[in-house]
Amino acid sequence: MVNSFEIRLPDDWHLHVRDGATMKDVVGHTGSQFGRAIIMPNLKPPVTDAQGALQYKQRIQHALVGQPAFEPLMTLYLTDRTTPEMILEAHAKGAAYAAKLYPAGATTNSDSGVTNIAAMDDVFAALADTGMLLLLHGEVTDSAIDIFDREAAFLETILPAIIRRHPTLRIVFEHITTEMAVDFVEAAAPNVGATITAHHLLANRNHMLAGGIRPHFYCLPILKRDSDRIALLRAATSRNPKFFLGTDSAPHAIEDKESACGCAGSYTAAQAMALYATAFEEADALSNLEAFASLHGPEFYGLPINTDRLVIERKAQIIPDRYTFGPSAVRPFFAGTSLQWTTHRA
Ligand code: NCD
Ligand code: ZN
Repeated sequence: MVNSFEIRLPDDWHLHVRDGATMKDVVGHTGSQFGRAIIMPNLKPPVTDAQGALQYKQRIQHALVGQPAFEPLMTLYLTDRTTPEMILEAHAKGAAYAAKLYPAGATTNSDSGVTNIAAMDDVFAALADTGMLLLLHGEVTDSAIDIFDREAAFLETILPAIIRRHPTLRIVFEHITTEMAVDFVEAAAPNVGATITAHHLLANRNHMLAGGIRPHFYCLPILKRDSDRIALLRAATSRNPKFFLGTDSAPHAIEDKESACGCAGSYTAAQAMALYATAFEEADALSNLEAFASLHGPEFYGLPINTDRLVIERKAQIIPDRYTFGPSAVRPFFAGTSLQWTTHRA
């Protein structure tokens, strides 16, 4: 039995750190385990241009002072008003690595998202020309489509056309949740990859809904069947370079989750790598964790692999009940659960 191992320092290719007074309470959790993180732009108002991204990056760096640091890799939030010139400017200023497409209304703070994806061709072409990536929240928002089918509907109706029209654009189908998405990404061209969260590797919809409704398991895309979880675990542990780590750690104040209309998002940043190690051990694949967490992401993004290292030890930890989150608290995913793994930077 493996009791301790080291891997190259991982990166988180999908992270929410929020803004303002709460940010300093969450960024150190990421810095304690990750070298870089792709920062989601779904603030209120969203980060839509070069200047906004550069300013947000400065605020993150300021919040990191005195804490374990990571490098924030910024993204632009696409809206109906995004122009190709805005993409070119962000690239020229080194302000963003990628642009994020939220179909309008898909998730937390997505009201300003794109209403007509077919009208985005020039913007996607500018991304492809600059070598920036397109990150997709891959769910349709049509109220007639069942919430458990929204990812499948996106990959049946929208994604193939984007891939066909932009064959050189690097596309990340983010936080995939279904066996169908795994099959789709495996069959797609090499410029199409996917991130997988720890919570989708560890939980299914029964965790959220059987024996009581548990709002801290509510995230988007919503947890699916256990057969889907098993397919995600197979993909993550397969050493296929299309699949890489993205926590989608999404902190919300506890009262915003435990509410008659609770927010979507699970907070995994503080134990992220211990959670992934738990999932990989279930699949008897700890030896493939480094490829998924530390090698495939940089390869897909065209960035160097980190030189620092992370130690992963078999040492039990109980996930705390809550962390300070500005004036309130955030309850971590799997709070109160004992994990068999602990991590620290070498
Ligand atoms: C995210 C958030 O809270 O910002 N929520 C979530 O459930 N994942 C938004 C998102 O990535 O969908
Ligand atoms: Zn997210």
